[in-house]
Amino acid sequence: MNLKKILGIDIGGSGVKGAIVDTKKGELITERYRIPTPQPATPEAVAEVIKKITKHFKWKGPVGAGFPGVIQQGIARTAANVDDSWIDKDLNKLFSQATGCKVHVVNDADAAGMAEVKFGAGKRHKGTLILITVGTGLGTVVFTNGKLVPNLELGHILLHGADAELYATDAARKRDELDWDTWAGRFNEYLLRIEELIWPDKIIIGGGASKKGEKFFPHLTTKAKVVPAKLMNEAGIVGAAMVSKYYNKLEKKNRNS
Ligand code: BGC
Repeated sequence: MNLKKILGIDIGGSGVKGAIVDTKKGELITERYRIPTPQPATPEAVAEVIKKITKHFKWKGPVGAGFPGVIQQGIARTAANVDDSWIDKDLNKLFSQATGCKVHVVNDADAAGMAEVKFGAGKRHKGTLILITVGTGLGTVVFTNGKLVPNLELGHILLHGADAELYATDAARKRDELDWDTWAGRFNEYLLRIEELIWPDKIIIGGGASKKGEKFFPHLTTKAKVVPAKLMNEAGIVGAAMVSKYYNKLEKKNRNS
């Protein structure tokens, strides 16, 4: 199986995006192809969309997909911003059956983190870093000396007695019609709390809001350096492809041992 090129897919609250990735260079080698997330975003409806994306690329090879919830061995365990019917579904199986390709699914923030650490703003970082994706939800991934702890759901810590995600994500800014300064204050509170809990040396901000960094970076007061993600919108796709490469290699090694 050729693992140099893998189809990476990012399942988001508003769109499902895919592109073929050069996994050595961490670059997209095709344009991104985006299909709006079906509503309701049930597993079966999204499986159909993933099938359309594989067809669009006439793809038969390995696929990696990032999903906005906890994923254990391909099984969804949470679904904060998508339909509850995802919980406990074996997504590796569902998507592989729908597409006829071998699909590996991981948490979307973990995927983005893998890409940023290998090719982007976290490259060669020593110590502890956290990548926070700010979009519909708050995705978090922590690396220490390049090693990741999967499924760290720090977007759901409590802030003012409620889920931080409801208070400080980009969707909250839009929902509460906040100006950037007000929202930046909320986001800064969130970062200070994260800092108290895990003391990262570096904080990387990814996801949709990272494109508007100039509007809120000046308001951030953490001791840790805060930097924007380098791969921006592509990190989820690139990282999903990298994770698929990792699992395919691991499975091959296990078969041969
Ligand atoms: C989910 C995370 C996900 C994040 C970003 C959160 O609501 O719980 O698993 O990584 O949204 O999509």
